[in-house]
Amino acid sequence: MSLPKAFLDEVRARVPVSDVIGRRIKLTRAGREFKGCCPFHHEKTPSFYVNDQKGFYHCFGCGVHGDVIRFLTDHDNLGFMDAVEQLANQAGLQVPKPSPEEQKKFQRQMSLYDLMESATKFYEAQLHRAENKKILEYLLTRGISLETIKSFRIGFSPDGDGLINHLKKSNYKTEDMIEAGLFKASERNQGETYPFFRSRVMFPVTDLQGRVVAFGGRVLPESYGGPTGKSAPKYINSPETAIFHKGRNLYALSRGRKAIGDGETVIVVEGYMDVIALAQAGFRAAVAPLGTALTETQVEELWRVMPEGARAPVLCFDGDTAGQRAASRALDRILPILKPDHSARFAFLPPEHDPDSLIKDEGSSAMQRVLDNAIGLFDMLWQEEIKDRNLTQPEAKAGLRASLVKKARQIPDQTVQEFYIHQINQKINDEFLSGGSGQKGGAFGRLRDFVRGPGRFGKVQPPGLHTPYRPSSAQVQPVRTSRLLKEKTLLAVMLNYPELFDEFGEKLGMLQIPNADYDALRQELVRLLSHPEEISQQIGGEAGPDGEINLDDQVLKQHLSDLGYGKILDAVFDRSLYLHAGFAKPGQPLDIVRQGWNETWERCQSRRQQETGG
Ligand code: UTP
Ligand code: MN
Repeated sequence: MSLPKAFLDEVRARVPVSDVIGRRIKLTRAGREFKGCCPFHHEKTPSFYVNDQKGFYHCFGCGVHGDVIRFLTDHDNLGFMDAVEQLANQAGLQVPKPSPEEQKKFQRQMSLYDLMESATKFYEAQLHRAENKKILEYLLTRGISLETIKSFRIGFSPDGDGLINHLKKSNYKTEDMIEAGLFKASERNQGETYPFFRSRVMFPVTDLQGRVVAFGGRVLPESYGGPTGKSAPKYINSPETAIFHKGRNLYALSRGRKAIGDGETVIVVEGYMDVIALAQAGFRAAVAPLGTALTETQVEELWRVMPEGARAPVLCFDGDTAGQRAASRALDRILPILKPDHSARFAFLPPEHDPDSLIKDEGSSAMQRVLDNAIGLFDMLWQEEIKDRNLTQPEAKAGLRASLVKKARQIPDQTVQEFYIHQINQKINDEFLSGGSGQKGGAFGRLRDFVRGPGRFGKVQPPGLHTPYRPSSAQVQPVRTSRLLKEKTLLAVMLNYPELFDEFGEKLGMLQIPNADYDALRQELVRLLSHPEEISQQIGGEAGPDGEINLDDQVLKQHLSDLGYGKILDAVFDRSLYLHAGFAKPGQPLDIVRQGWNETWERCQSRRQQETGG
């Protein structure tokens, strides 16, 4: 039986040559290709090249050359049909049976690609027609260049019969159009159809081979002729079809593939517009799931195309509560698929921004900083677990460990799991057990070691009070946030940990907050903490046996509130604060608080220098 050419092409497209050959001989990456020692002749230095893009292998030593099927027939001595069958299995394809229906069905599936391509061209052309000038204008005002529009093949789907007439002219059948998800059969009028995408900006979605398999369609804003009110969903996406699998496809993966292969940072964002803005700003390896949360399959798909030794895509999340929850769910989804050299990182955007708006408002350097602040999977796990715990009591610490270990047990790979458990123990040891700062940590009520009078900045601390500043472990790095959030964070730490005033008071005194209310609070705080006796006298004097003054954060806050700072305190401790600066919460190990404070302070400073120093 002869197999349809389209089917064989499909097999070749789905199974990378490097995959098949790499399982038989050792291949290493060489730029866009792989190389290894030729299995068809004897050699010591590799001259056998495998190119996935072209779907071929070639030996510069002995001249053998072929595709994935040829490799199996020649290397494994398989018959042609057996080779195809094996590959088809691997690709999840049925070898077409000779029955005419079967043939037809398969051909139809193949023709879906043609159909989608034809629709893409139609939508593209519409966007540039004079009567749709306004729609093009909308994209341009959003900062997308003509070049980007072309490169992402962005289009427009007008309302009406345009598409169906266009497709009919090329002899496509209505049933195929429906199967491709471009049209829906009318429920009211038998035999009638209506277009799925009407008056939407069209974003073609491609598979790994770059073939269009689906679309995302964005509604137009009201001012550009879109529907009034909130009647229509902002985006609609093609339904699942024989060629489109929502949970597997990633937007822009095919175009990012080369950059990914070259080792560029893989960035996973939420939306079409984010990917596009990132690409335009030079982040060439940005992808997005299609209107759903990132799936395991999508992560695995990413890993497959990422080069060895760097398989940790950066997953970007919004800085708000929803973003935190999404990140936590992503963590839960990835733990059970972790394996050696396969991981992920987590990055958080400033509140009220997505990558698109961040780049637009603050430039690509701001985005780069978000990426630079990405935390590793272990640190993400740690942060998630300590988030809502008060870790002053031993049993709470034990609870933390139990919970961390339980999470680590979800990692099926034994080696990775062991390393996780090891690192959990190590970190708990560092934070809580090894005589470190941890024991002092947090909301300990009375502050035995509180200041003994004003003006002691920079003096040597009592022994045992402070452990040396430990340079960064990623987990306490505050994510990049808006300027005021940093200042609020610094205030919050001082309010929750007045005992750290000895260390940070001087800096707090130098800080300039560009908001008068916050700055007033800051000044009052500096004044009060420099003269704690003022408060302690008011609450009846609590000097300890050696003349120490005990001042706890509750008393301090109450006092500030009495002085009329209640509203400002509420603003400092608004809901988003701890999302961005978990270390500022009461009950954190002091070391972590210190490090977080220092890093936030540095950031405030460097920002100020940029602003003033040019
Ligand atoms: P967003 O609402 O963040 O949109 O949804 P966006 O990508 O930033 O687009 P602009 O900037 O408003 O134009 C993020 C992603 O969620 C999916 C889409 O894939 C979108 O890109 N989504 C959103 C839907 O599938 N349906 C919706 O109604 C909204
Ligand atoms: Mn957006």
